[in-house]
Amino acid sequence: MLKDIMKKVTVSAPGKLMLLGEHAVVYGRPCIVTAVGQRIRAMVELTDQPVFELNAPDVAVVHYQKPMSELGKGDLPKGAKFMEVAIKNFGVRRGVKVTTASEFSSQFGFGSSSASTVCVIKALSELTNKKLSDKQIFDLSYKTVLDIQGKGSGFDVAAATFGGTLYFVTGGKVIKPLNIKSLPLIVGYSGIKVDTVTLVNEVLEKAKKYPAVIEHIYDAIGRLVELAKKAILQSDWATLGELMNFNEGYLASLGVEGPKLAGMIYGAREAGAYGAKLSGAGIGDCMLTLTPAKAKKAVEQAIEKAGGQVIDVKANVEGAKVESSD
Ligand code: MEV
Repeated sequence: MLKDIMKKVTVSAPGKLMLLGEHAVVYGRPCIVTAVGQRIRAMVELTDQPVFELNAPDVAVVHYQKPMSELGKGDLPKGAKFMEVAIKNFGVRRGVKVTTASEFSSQFGFGSSSASTVCVIKALSELTNKKLSDKQIFDLSYKTVLDIQGKGSGFDVAAATFGGTLYFVTGGKVIKPLNIKSLPLIVGYSGIKVDTVTLVNEVLEKAKKYPAVIEHIYDAIGRLVELAKKAILQSDWATLGELMNFNEGYLASLGVEGPKLAGMIYGAREAGAYGAKLSGAGIGDCMLTLTPAKAKKAVEQAIEKAGGQVIDVKANVEGAKVESSD
């Protein structure tokens, strides 16, 4: 008897937070990223009409339609382009209908575009029975992100695909899970939205002007990431905190700290954190801090006093997974 063909699948993928190594990772150094508990869900169906249809109410996309033959062409709306290009790159012969729902605001910088790209690629792999490995899902999703942004290390795609806490080298040259049980992070949101590619380009301009200096900074960040990897594996939070502070100093010298994040970071340290730094491209989005249990409350208050919002996120969570199918 023929097995029933799966018609519809719902896949979820987590967001990410960069722990250490941002910016330097774009230039071949390692970073450490953790997958966070807020997930994106995509319900994906294969249809008989050769049309792509998207409903993504969280990013104000409702009933977006396009012939499959036109995918990736013309003006691509912000909320649709990653999924559209992902489907084009996957190469589907039939129509595809996608409905997404997100547990987190795309404002936080948790990587909603990368997570939804991974969801769609994994869902299509299930629906077409291609059985792509996690690495193949990563590669196709990363290609999609590069097709659109032209830049990026792919660490967010890796977190969405593999989950957990990863030691990651640019483009997925190394993706090594760091097997830990927990990570006592407090995350503060600055309320400032930044464009990652713009900031990456600003740092690049600096690197062109002062190549010898900036290369040293990238090397130093790469080395502290190696030490941080050991500290994480030993749950040595005091050392990890100190390394986060070093990392913040280097990021400040690259010009991506910004006054709002600085206030939150230094406030957290004064209130008793082991360490604190920005997470991601800088200037806005989030900061994170590792804090002894006894200082948790004071650190949260310090972040709020500096104008930040403490967000309740669980780190080190599971990667992309099938939620349901029929
Ligand atoms: C942005 O969240 C992190 C950067 O390192 C860019 C990247 O790795 O793609 C600045």
